[in-house]
Amino acid sequence: MTPEARSAATASLAAAQTDHLPVLITEVIDALSPVDGDVFLDGTFGAGGYSRALLEASDCQVIGLDRDPDVLSEAAIWAPLFDGRLALEQGTFGAMEKAVEKHPQITGIVLDIGVSSMQLDRARRGFSFLRDGPLDMRMEQSGVSAAELVNAADESVLADIFFQYGEERRSRALARAVIAARSSARIETTGALAAIIEQASPSKRPGQPHPATRVFQALRIAVNDELGELAKGLAAAERILGEGGRLVVVTFHSLEDRVVKRFFQQRSKHGGAGVSRYAPDTPDATAPSFEMISRKAVTAGKTELEQNPRARSAKLRAGRRTAAPSHPEIMSGLGLPGLVASGSIL
Ligand SMILES: C[S@@+](CC[C@H](N)C(=O)[O-])C[C@H]1O[C@@H](n2cnc3c(N)ncnc32)[C@H](O)[C@@H]1O
Repeated sequence: MTPEARSAATASLAAAQTDHLPVLITEVIDALSPVDGDVFLDGTFGAGGYSRALLEASDCQVIGLDRDPDVLSEAAIWAPLFDGRLALEQGTFGAMEKAVEKHPQITGIVLDIGVSSMQLDRARRGFSFLRDGPLDMRMEQSGVSAAELVNAADESVLADIFFQYGEERRSRALARAVIAARSSARIETTGALAAIIEQASPSKRPGQPHPATRVFQALRIAVNDELGELAKGLAAAERILGEGGRLVVVTFHSLEDRVVKRFFQQRSKHGGAGVSRYAPDTPDATAPSFEMISRKAVTAGKTELEQNPRARSAKLRAGRRTAAPSHPEIMSGLGLPGLVASGSIL
C-alpha cells in the first residue's frame, strides 16, 4: 500500500467507526469465540464493526457480506488495512451460499438484522420519517421502492402490510388515509408520508413514539422482504456450518426475534418442535442440528444502554452446530406473518 492509500484507508476506517455503533459487540465476539485460522461470515457487514472486532481478536479471516452497494464501496477503501484477511461480497444473506462458495469452510456466521445508522441517517436513502428525502427504503438500491408500493398497492394490501409487519393497530384507518392522499397527488417523499400518517393519527402524547414509526417499519420490511430473508438466511447458515460452527443473530424487534427464537427451538429439540407429528419417521432428519450457546436471549447491559439507546431493543441468540443433518423445514413453524389481503401490490 502506498502511504497515500494507507492514510486514505485510515481516514475511511475512522469514519466507519463513528458512522454506526455496533450493538452487543462484546457478547457477539464471546459467542463466536474467534481463534486463529477461523473463517467468519459477517452477513450484515454495515460499517464493519463486528468484522473488525473479529479480525482484531484473532488471526482469522472474515467475509463481509451486505446487500447495500454503498456499504461495500466505502469498506473497500479500508479493507486492505487487514492484509487480505477481509473479503467483501455484495449480496443477500438469504443467498449466502453463493457468497461463500469460493471461500474456505466457514466456522462462524453472524447476522445483525435491520438497517444501519448510515442508512437511517442519509435522507436520500428514504428510510427515516425524521429526514425528508425520496421515499425509497431499498437496501439494495434496486427493485420496488416504498414510493412505488404506497402509490400503487390496493388499500387492503397496505392495511395488511401495516398490520402484519408494523403491528399497527390502526392499520385500516392509516391505509385509508394513504389512499385518500394519493388520489390527489403521488406520495414521493418520507416527509409527505409522515405528514399523512400524523394527520390521520390521534395527537401524540409526550414520550410516545412518532405516529409513523410502525408504518415506516412495515414498509421497510415489505420493500426488502426482511422476514423472508431472515428465514432463508437461518436455513442457509444451518446448511453451511459444519459441526461446532457457531451462528449468532442479533435482532431489534419482536417479529424478527420470534423467527430466530422459533428457528433455534425447532433446531435444538429432538423431533424438531414445529415439525408435523404426522411426518414420516425420519429420526436423522429431525435430530437437533444446533445446541444453544445461551439458553435465553442476551440483552444489553446498563453501560451499553447509556452509551447507545439503539441497543435497548437488541436481542442476541446463538447456537452451535451439531453433526446432525440440516432440518427439512425452511419457512414453516417460524411465526412468519403471512399477508392475507388478496389485492394487487403494484
Ligand atoms: C444493523 S446493520 C449492521 C451493522 C454491523 N453489524 C456493524 O457493526 O457495523 C445491518 C446491515 O445489514 C444489511 N442487510 C440487511 N438485510 C440484509 C440481507 N438480507 N442481506 C445482506 N445484507 C443485509 C444492511 O444493508 C445493513 O448494512
